[in-house]
Amino acid sequence: TVSFRLGIAGLGTVGASVVRMVERRRAALAAAGLDIRVAAVSSRDRSRDRGLDLTDVAWFDDPVALARSGDVDCVVELIGGAEGPAKAVVEAALGVGKPVVTANKALLARHGAALAALAEENGVALAFEAAVAGGIPVIKTLREGLPGNTILRIYGILNGTCNYILSRMEREGLTFEACLKDAQALGYAEADPTFDVEGFDTAHKLALLTSLAFGTAVDADGVSVEGISRVQPLDLRMADELGYRIKLLGVAQAAEAGIEQRVHPTMVPKSSAIAQVMGVTNAVTIDADAVGELTLIGPGAGGEATASAVLADIADVARGIVRATFGIPASAMSASERVEMQRH
Ligand code: HSE
Repeated sequence: TVSFRLGIAGLGTVGASVVRMVERRRAALAAAGLDIRVAAVSSRDRSRDRGLDLTDVAWFDDPVALARSGDVDCVVELIGGAEGPAKAVVEAALGVGKPVVTANKALLARHGAALAALAEENGVALAFEAAVAGGIPVIKTLREGLPGNTILRIYGILNGTCNYILSRMEREGLTFEACLKDAQALGYAEADPTFDVEGFDTAHKLALLTSLAFGTAVDADGVSVEGISRVQPLDLRMADELGYRIKLLGVAQAAEAGIEQRVHPTMVPKSSAIAQVMGVTNAVTIDADAVGELTLIGPGAGGEATASAVLADIADVARGIVRATFGIPASAMSASERVEMQRH
């Protein structure tokens, strides 16, 4: 049996769900040879009642101290944000040779290449299933499921907030602003909803998928981005009359000039698989030469669904399935550099 003691940095919705899930799945994990438990947690606010039993769990006010604790084998970063404490805790853990599981797309989109290099230098895993498309195991599919394929294109609905807003605008004829308010009240949107509605969250997730699908370094700046804040109920009605729906898609494809990454509202035929995806749901289509098109559909946000992806990584890291950076090359060319090279 592998014994694996987790240090959870960040006890928001996802962190609290992970703590509960590890407890709930204890027997099933043990039956699979994994003795996984939460040994330590850290969060900004110790006094808040989260309904968790943390009696046997060490509390750290400082996440970096949690990462360095001798009682922690693996750090689970659920703080969020591209800089600050999230970056510090991930660097500290990798630096002392501890694997990291994170749900932090912004951090990886910005610093993925450098963090992958750090993980590689220290021979530990940096796993991020929960960073893309919530509960959908798309990273695992790309990482392990398609060695016989060259990936030609990957696209999808990667932001639940935008898909929720567009779905309600279409069905109920409501304005963008009214639907955004509801998405925030339901807890789907990021702390700063601009990230969702202007397409940056989709771009971050797309940049990670591109890296895994095409073996390029993560390059969020290479994504051309347009969000949904200017979409009007009238646009949706016109699309409907023509037999289309409007979806915010992230698309990465091998083009003649290299790998193209873009995010924008897209007219999709109502009969297509992706057009059926309504509400906070996400969908990712992988177009590969041997299998053709695969579409994965599932929840893209929410505590339990995201915790499901976090636990999948924890189990894989504990089993030693995930190697140092499992795909994100530390030193490879970025997608935009590759485009540049092929242009010259
Ligand atoms: N704000 C994100 C979304 C949450 O709406 O999809 C999951 O990353």
